[in-house]
Amino acid sequence: MASISQLHPLEINERTGEPFLRLPSPHENIIITPPRLEDVPAIVRALNDPRVYSTLAGPPFPYKEEHAIWWINYTKTPSDELLQELRQANDKDLKIVDGCPVRTLREVQSDGSDVFLGDVGCDRCGYPDVVDPEEKSRLTFTNDQLPPGDKDIVWCIGDYLVASHHGKGIMSAAVSTLVSSWMVPRMNAQQIRVETFLSNRGSRRVFEKNGFVVEETVELKKVIPCGKIIEGFDILWWRSSEKKA
Ligand SMILES: CC(C)(COP(=O)(O)OP(=O)(O)OC[C@H]1O[C@@H](n2cnc3c(N)ncnc32)[C@H](O)[C@@H]1OP(=O)(O)O)[C@@H](O)C(=O)NCCC(=O)NCCS
Repeated sequence: MASISQLHPLEINERTGEPFLRLPSPHENIIITPPRLEDVPAIVRALNDPRVYSTLAGPPFPYKEEHAIWWINYTKTPSDELLQELRQANDKDLKIVDGCPVRTLREVQSDGSDVFLGDVGCDRCGYPDVVDPEEKSRLTFTNDQLPPGDKDIVWCIGDYLVASHHGKGIMSAAVSTLVSSWMVPRMNAQQIRVETFLSNRGSRRVFEKNGFVVEETVELKKVIPCGKIIEGFDILWWRSSEKKA
């Protein structure tokens, strides 16, 4: 009997051996792969574009090469470790893991090469909208202590796309693929919490179209790294049917 691939449902690029998830039609030329060191210039370009940085609270501004190098190491190390864990696993069933090894969006060209498009990554929720430091640290500590696969883990998703590709349905499809192909079956994700700026209708819609529901609106004036003042956050949750019950 053929043994199962612990990388399922990742596909493997025959030329490079790199694993990836493919977006569904009509975006099948877009894939999600692990981060690569060579992405530095493309990330620097994307995160210095006002159509991208003005709705992000996380990345520093201006975004320098050293920031991108730090980011790639920060994301590539867990991705490499997770892939190694999966390749070495000899469990009978598909192993439940504590993250997703792919997060970088790329557009595959007709010659088989690809172009960096952005990032869609999941992590344990860090409650960026919670102002009280003790409450924030209690929530993150409790969430971080839960073992891999625990149904009470609160996950979050962060994303951005290069401006040339906005408004084509790409991030809606990318979030759908990440959640349904990996987070639910391979991480046992049962609840996901995202925070979008009140003014960021596009991001809110991406999540609403994927079954997330605005459960709270936090009015909170905050200066983001580029100097812009935001007025607060919509807090959206996605819950599995077990969690909804
Ligand atoms: C937010 C972002 C990820 C959306 O990705 P996208 O691929 O352009 O979104 P989609 O094309 O899948 O659109 C999803 C929905 O949002 C709407 N939308 C997209 N951009 C919009 C905008 N700027 N203003 C209003 N609505 C917008 C679309 O019309 C669609 O809704 P509909 O089907 O009801 O018409 C992208 O614009 C981006 O990277 N922005 C900068 C970084 C960012 O804000 N990241 C999210 C942080 S929480």
